[in-house]
Amino acid sequence: MRIAVYPGSFDPITKGHLDIIKRASKMFDKVIVAVVLNPSKHPMFSFEERRDFIVKSVESVPGLDNIEVDAFEGLLVDYMHKHNSKIIVKGLRFISDFEYEFQMALTNRKLDEDIETMFMVTCYKYSYLSSSIVKEVCSLGGDVTDMLPEVILDTVSEEIKKRTK
Ligand code: PNS
Repeated sequence: MRIAVYPGSFDPITKGHLDIIKRASKMFDKVIVAVVLNPSKHPMFSFEERRDFIVKSVESVPGLDNIEVDAFEGLLVDYMHKHNSKIIVKGLRFISDFEYEFQMALTNRKLDEDIETMFMVTCYKYSYLSSSIVKEVCSLGGDVTDMLPEVILDTVSEEIKKRTK
């Protein structure tokens, strides 16, 4: 069974993340979306909220049934071992993502040479998107309709507005 892990903060999940999940789901038997618990990143949303947004977004896509949503803390390679996966999936938007992603991929390979990082180039129409951009635009009253999965749009945008008041 080919299992891939798609790790990240997902604070919150965007349409760009969902696009990567959909495309990865076609390439692997199972994709585990691994939400990092690390509180030092000071996420706006709790783990439960972030997980819930991902689950709802995944469920809103017909046929997307090989996705599992889970939490992880500590080293990603340790999590990979526990879940019998050797493939990390990451989305790449710009050249500017590359430096940091390249460093993480090499670090993970240094920690375990059998672990491969597979980069998927984000769909052009979502290439400008990030969770931080969504939070900023929304908190300043901008329209985030095209940025968030439809099923979570109202809840997430209301919460962002409330929490950034
Ligand atoms: O969505 P993000 O914030 O870019 O995700 C970053 C994440 C969670 C993938 C990265 O910080 C991570 O893998 N953290 C786990 C700690 C770890 O394994 N560090 C060594 C590899 S850099």
